[in-house]
Amino acid sequence: MSTELLTTTRSFRRRLDLTRPVERRDLLECLDIAVQAPSGSNRQPWRFLIVQDGETKQQIADYYRKGFAANLSGRTPRPDQLGDLASGRYLADHLAEVPALVLVCSLGRLPAASSPSRLASFYGSIYPAVWNFMLALRERGLGSCLTTAHLAYEREIADLLAIPFDEVTQLAMVPVARLLPGSDGPARRAPAAEVTMWDRWA
Ligand SMILES: Cc1cc2nc3c(=O)[nH]c(=O)nc-3n(C[C@H](O)[C@H](O)[C@H](O)COP(=O)(O)O)c2cc1C
Repeated sequence: MSTELLTTTRSFRRRLDLTRPVERRDLLECLDIAVQAPSGSNRQPWRFLIVQDGETKQQIADYYRKGFAANLSGRTPRPDQLGDLASGRYLADHLAEVPALVLVCSLGRLPAASSPSRLASFYGSIYPAVWNFMLALRERGLGSCLTTAHLAYEREIADLLAIPFDEVTQLAMVPVARLLPGSDGPARRAPAAEVTMWDRWA
């Protein structure tokens, strides 16, 4: 895998092509790459629910928009966050038009007071697969964005999609579309040397 793919796969929102369909075959091919990811005890707890039906997408988008607005309320973004914020709003406003919404779920539901190691194993057994999926999409000219704003309405969305809430936890939603042309560069990040310590926390 190329350094270029790893450093330029961004959260694509405004570059999602809302007019062209996404093939099921492509989604399944990328999910086959997603499931090569590691998981705790190799449990492979991931389950994927892909929503392409227009009316269902609209209902999910309504929950997403409410969750997104709640996340923002009372927060003053830093100047360097304004671009991301506008892009986030764009996605919230257009989510129902994105050709495929991939809901990423995990079998099981953690008790409220779970130990740090159980939490790490539960969440950490899903997110590597999500990132594999996003990289595989990008390699095929498809764009995506890892989202969680809808999870404030996890129960409502479970009811909508007949997901058994007590047995299955929703952990992310990945809207997928073909990518519109544009330039991709590495993001501005604090260099690793600034956030890395050696031998002790100092
Ligand atoms: C756990 C997690 C949750 C996220 N939730 C959302 C979300 O609900 N909506 C959204 O637009 N972006 C979401 N993002 C994307 C981040 O905003 C994005 O990764 C970050 O701003 C860096 O931008 P980049 O991915 O383009 O480099 C999420 C990312 C992560 C890792």
